[in-house]
Amino acid sequence: MKLKFTSNTSTVDEIAEHLKAVGPHFIPPLNTYVEDIDAYAEKLHKNSFIAEAWVGTVLVGISATYINDPNKETAFLTNTSVLNEYHRLGIGKKLSMMIMNKCVEECFSSIDTEINKENFNSLILYETIGFKIKMDLGNSFILTKNIKDVKGI
Ligand SMILES: CC(C)(COP(=O)(O)OP(=O)(O)OC[C@H]1O[C@@H](n2cnc3c(N)ncnc32)[C@H](O)[C@@H]1OP(=O)(O)O)[C@@H](O)C(=O)NCCC(=O)NCCS
Repeated sequence: MKLKFTSNTSTVDEIAEHLKAVGPHFIPPLNTYVEDIDAYAEKLHKNSFIAEAWVGTVLVGISATYINDPNKETAFLTNTSVLNEYHRLGIGKKLSMMIMNKCVEECFSSIDTEINKENFNSLILYETIGFKIKMDLGNSFILTKNIKDVKGI
């Protein structure tokens, strides 16, 4: 299997197709909190930095982050997802590292993300790359990674 990593090359349709395939495996399922996946894909395509993993022409993983705070304080990582059959190959970690490198490059101070407390795979993934709990929102945590002093990861 040949994996390829890119950024911001996917089309709205490819992002939507990926999200529809992986959505049922989110905890909770993506469609329970995102009403219109096509509109969400369009929003990600337009407004976020997307790190992408491909096998051939299939978009097997994405990590999408809003890096648009004019004060360059906090970027918000809105989604990391990998198709089920490609789990535990280090793809989620590699995509998250690409996001961190981009935020360092853009001189941001930190990256936040919100993760449901029952989404153990994601909690472990972010913990392994240095995210810490910033806030307890009841059903979810806001996790944060301070990157102010990082020179490149
Ligand atoms: C969370 C998710 C992106 C992880 O992707 P992945 O490519 O499988 O993750 P990686 O292979 O890079 O794993 C990195 C580390 O996270 C931890 N981890 C990931 N999945 C795990 C699992 N099922 N069980 C235990 N640890 C896990 C491990 O520490 C792993 O390192 P290791 O394999 O060296 O032990 C994937 O499970 C997914 O797409 N889930 C559904 C979507 C979702 O819920 N996204 C979160 C909302 S933003």
